[in-house]
Amino acid sequence: MRARPQAPSLADVTRGRILFGGDHNPEQWPEETWQDDVRLMKDAGVNSVTLGVFSWARIEPRPGAREFGWLDRLMDLMHAHGIGVVLATPTSAPPPWLGRLHPDTLPRDEDGRTEWWGSRQHFSHSSATYRRYAAALTEDLAARYAGHPALTMWHIGNEYCTYDHGDEAATAFRRWLRERYGTLDALNTAWGTAFWSQHYGDWAEVIPPRRAHYLKNPAHVLDFRRFTSDALLKCFLVERDIVRRHTPHLPVTTNFMPLFAGQDGWRWAAEEDVVSVDLYPDPRDPLGAQEGALVQDLTRSQAGGAPWMLMEQAAGAVSWRGVNHPKPRGMNRLWSLQAVARGADAVCYFQWRQSRQGAEKFHSGMVGHAGPEGRGFQEVKGLGADLAALGPHVTGSRVTADVALLHDWHAWWAADQEGRPSARVDHAGVLRAWHRALWENHVTTDLAHPEHDLSAYRVVVVPRLHLLTDTAVDNLVGYVRAGGTLVSGFLTGVTDRDDRVRPGGMDPRLRELFGIRVLHEWWPLEAGETAACDGFDGTLWSEELQAAPGAETVAAYRGGELDGLPAVLRNGRAWYVSTLPVPQALRTLLARITAGAGVRPVLDGLPAGVEAVRRGDLLFLLHHGREPVTVTLPDGDHHDLLTGTTVTGTLTLGRYGVAVLRP
Ligand code: GLA
Repeated sequence: MRARPQAPSLADVTRGRILFGGDHNPEQWPEETWQDDVRLMKDAGVNSVTLGVFSWARIEPRPGAREFGWLDRLMDLMHAHGIGVVLATPTSAPPPWLGRLHPDTLPRDEDGRTEWWGSRQHFSHSSATYRRYAAALTEDLAARYAGHPALTMWHIGNEYCTYDHGDEAATAFRRWLRERYGTLDALNTAWGTAFWSQHYGDWAEVIPPRRAHYLKNPAHVLDFRRFTSDALLKCFLVERDIVRRHTPHLPVTTNFMPLFAGQDGWRWAAEEDVVSVDLYPDPRDPLGAQEGALVQDLTRSQAGGAPWMLMEQAAGAVSWRGVNHPKPRGMNRLWSLQAVARGADAVCYFQWRQSRQGAEKFHSGMVGHAGPEGRGFQEVKGLGADLAALGPHVTGSRVTADVALLHDWHAWWAADQEGRPSARVDHAGVLRAWHRALWENHVTTDLAHPEHDLSAYRVVVVPRLHLLTDTAVDNLVGYVRAGGTLVSGFLTGVTDRDDRVRPGGMDPRLRELFGIRVLHEWWPLEAGETAACDGFDGTLWSEELQAAPGAETVAAYRGGELDGLPAVLRNGRAWYVSTLPVPQALRTLLARITAGAGVRPVLDGLPAGVEAVRRGDLLFLLHHGREPVTVTLPDGDHHDLLTGTTVTGTLTLGRYGVAVLRP
């Protein structure tokens, strides 16, 4: 997937060590603290820090000024202690003077309200002024530190996510649309503007979707989301290309938010040398570990299977949920090692030292308010030792999967809009449900784009892809023809590239593939409502469909309007599931389908709550519960890299216990 064959990668930075550290914002502290910081970092085994993420105002306190002295001292300090620096371009948090002198740099929401300074990410991606200042600063930063021995990698911006509905964005949106459609006629056709008298007669009439009286045109909204992702990507590319020019040998990354709707994550990842993500599952969420696994599987897949970077996580509590729970003893280690199991070669945090001031002063740090004696830091230290032990055995190795779950941001953008059949069906929720079933079955999954080459997978699962391009449809049909097993959930292939409903309510090629003769009606279910099916209950959705001759009804609806109609339909190696079976039933169904295609779970007979992942020749066992459990191991002796002991037969894992076994 990487665009440049000789591109630098994470391996150039790790060199056999797992990167361990995090965002370090020492400008918030008096310089006396810095010595204490590096001493504690060494104590904890920290080998990498990210500097400068929010340092714009410190580096450029006045327009055009450059104050690098403090950063010079920090870079030198890190180098003197053997700690590598991931240097960030500080362009996600412009200083107040930029907004005051250049209000055109401030974004507007869809109501036309300005997002003022006083927080962060208050920049318009389309503002020429913003881009000019950001590029100039990036240029000087890159020139100054290109040769610094502490510098290991570049981190561009931070969590690109800003929407802008203002006038400069409107101009850029029109430009983007002209490139896409060429003519207004083509745009009118693609957007279906015959509906509600929306025909555009002049490009100047085309605006971002702004506050409107009633439902907006969904194709317009879809294109605006595409445009926004591309406009933000342009900001990233400008800065990436500047730093690359100065340091072609160093990798470049930017951090994604976990399963975030605002960026086309496939497209963005292809432009990075290292794919990185921020991950903050709720410690109280019973499915928090699965959420982590899903994001990790996605990030690894965005990286084309290469090692990736956990750029940020919390050592304890975050501060942006309604109620913010700390991580119980052992969970930080467990979730960190889960990321390593699923392909991470870097385990980092927001942030090194917990702030005493500012909007995130209650967000935990590696060194929390309790200081080095606090449980948080003590656990961080323990983790540092574990990662040091694993590094030489783990880094560079890959996780392989026989199953792919398909995911596409454009399908997400098209699906989760107003005016849909059920507001209860959300793209990410359905993806989570299908991933959960595979995760609980101990089947490792990649994620893939519907147009990717899928031939390496025995089974491909489409939780739901509302919008599918013709290329994607052909890809799925071709995959099954070539011997693959395909399982699809409902609301897949409903619309084309422009979000135009396919003839018959679902692409005819897919209907033929799944053995659906007619899709009569959709019957969405209310909260708490279920649809009885043979042997299980369906939730969320049900469908009135008629099977084609030759297709097998594996399970039918029982009772009600749909009595006797297919709930699960099979046509050779293509399966269609027209409801969301309750979790246990979806697990059973997928276990049957994957086993039929020759897919084996990582390990058989695992106790509940134990996750097993293979990475290279290592077997990771991760226990997500608090009561001790005993795992039956594959035959032979196993060397546990974390304890240095040899285990045979069975292994007992205590509260949040982890073992990393080499045969
Ligand atoms: C994100 C940001 C960080 C910090 C954390 C914690 O991941 O990138 O700067 O705000 O969230 O909330």
